[in-house]
Amino acid sequence: MRRDEILSEKLARLKLQLETLKLHGHQYVEFSGNNNWIAKLRDEASVFAPAPPAGSTKLKDNVAVVTPGKSSSGSGELDLIAQEVKSCELCPLAKSRTNTVFGVGDAKARLMFIGEAPGRDEDLKGEPFVGRAGALLTRMIKGMGLERGDVYIANIIKCRPPKNRNPEPVEVDNCEPYLKRQINIIKPEIICALGAVSAQTLLKTKTPISKLRGRLHQYQGAPLLPTFHPAYLLRNPSAKTEAWSDLQMIMKKLGLKIPDK
Ligand code: URA
Repeated sequence: MRRDEILSEKLARLKLQLETLKLHGHQYVEFSGNNNWIAKLRDEASVFAPAPPAGSTKLKDNVAVVTPGKSSSGSGELDLIAQEVKSCELCPLAKSRTNTVFGVGDAKARLMFIGEAPGRDEDLKGEPFVGRAGALLTRMIKGMGLERGDVYIANIIKCRPPKNRNPEPVEVDNCEPYLKRQINIIKPEIICALGAVSAQTLLKTKTPISKLRGRLHQYQGAPLLPTFHPAYLLRNPSAKTEAWSDLQMIMKKLGLKIPDK
């Protein structure tokens, strides 16, 4: 075999190994302008050397391997995606955000709530649904006989849109893959979409929330039940009756005891 053939074979193998690392949740970044594969080959041994301490970022020429910090969610896989989201710069929201807002809760939750995007409080804290609407969501969860930590809470968009405007289609296109990966790991038995924007975005429809709520749809292989957004319920308390009936549908599906009136 000629030397260049050996090199190109090694190169193909290295590319495959890097893809495998990526599939396992590691991030590697190829910096544009320096596509020096020979340097990569030289560093092959060190890239695949024993893992660096958790939380560290290892930079080798044009390859960065990020090792996640200690898992707080109970899932290393989720933490790896959270790290990716933290360094995501796919859209201009990256410039205006204080924190990315990935998601919280049980990595094996049977029930997952999905809102639209972080607001001001969430952007400051890096956690979804922590403002007034979040307090109501927590009460709704408790009403179901559960705690916040029993479920998983996330948004479609992981960065706050300026002035809390609705997410732009391009932002959804950039961010929804992260959500899909979260769902694939958590494998919830049921998803509750919170509000019109969440339900319409996930279901790719313009049907009003009043028509979508109260019945089961499908998203990423899981049943999805839309209900009103807690912020809407704060403004329209009379809609809480319908929201409670939606939550009861979810409870039935999960075999949870419905409290006596
Ligand atoms: N509204 C949302 O849709 N998500 C949050 O995290 C907070 C408010």
